[in-house]
Amino acid sequence: MAERQSKIAAVDPVWARISDEARSAVADEPLLGGLVHSSILHHPTMERALSYRISMKLSSGEMSEQILREIADEAYLANPDLGQAARADLVAVYERDPACLRLMQPILYFKGYQAVQAYRVGHWLWTEGRRDLAHFFQARISEIFGIDIHPAARMGRGIMIDHAHSIVIGETAVVGDNVSMLHSVTLGGTGKEDDDRHPKIENGVLIGAGAKVLGNIRIGHCSRIAAGSVVLHDVPPCKTVAGVPAKIVGEAGCDQPSITMDQLLRGGATPAG
Ligand SMILES: CC(C)(COP(=O)(O)OP(=O)(O)OC[C@H]1O[C@@H](n2cnc3c(N)ncnc32)[C@H](O)[C@@H]1OP(=O)(O)O)[C@@H](O)C(=O)NCCC(=O)NCCS
Repeated sequence: MAERQSKIAAVDPVWARISDEARSAVADEPLLGGLVHSSILHHPTMERALSYRISMKLSSGEMSEQILREIADEAYLANPDLGQAARADLVAVYERDPACLRLMQPILYFKGYQAVQAYRVGHWLWTEGRRDLAHFFQARISEIFGIDIHPAARMGRGIMIDHAHSIVIGETAVVGDNVSMLHSVTLGGTGKEDDDRHPKIENGVLIGAGAKVLGNIRIGHCSRIAAGSVVLHDVPPCKTVAGVPAKIVGEAGCDQPSITMDQLLRGGATPAG
């Protein structure tokens, strides 16, 4: 057991740390033993654990946990970027959410994190041309987590969706790296444009709770959108916008939580399997 743990720590410090947290959680609360073992401790890699977690959450009478798990395992094996993005998202949540005290929490309990990882598998299916299956993922993610992300939408790494009730991200939306959004955010169309009709969110943007960003507009890097705003026009980089319709109300600092994240991730290569 100790030898296996030191091997894991050598190749994947993120997963090694999560496993340590899980053992300590079970020691503190034995009633969580079944959940923590089946979701974390049983798995040699983070990818395998995420496959299990996604399949448990999305399975129903329509699609078994076993089939969903095979699909997710296939996605993680075929595209190691999915596992890397999952680590970046995890550390982003840990760094930015004051309620997140351990890396294992998002995997076990945070639906925003779980939904983004399930979306990433659905997006992989979409890029492989398996569009009906991708739509099935979208439908189940929406039913289970209340988060509707079109599988064609593109999302970078280090994404945090906090609280995560009622999120809508449209088909042609693009979300950059290190973007944070709160609950009830819409990245939607105005209804007046066809084809490429959804927002483009650059790196490091914060989107406050209830904000509606509508149309094929560009939100410049490191900008902030205040809670409840309706944004209908491009926003320059590093500005804060607020109101309905949103107007520039000030400057915004450029916060890049990914810097500490990179240090953790640089600790070693990560296995894809
Ligand atoms: C925009 C925000 C980041 C604050 O940025 P800031 O640079 O500190 O801005 P300030 O608080 O100095 O406000 C600047 C102006 O914008 C206004 N403003 C701030 N937030 C606003 C909002 N959500 N809607 C409308 N106006 C807002 C302020 O009243 C102020 O106007 P004034 O200059 O006329 O007094 C913050 O208000 C916000 O909305 N954060 C999102 C938080 C969130 O979603 N929380 C949910 C947690 S569950």
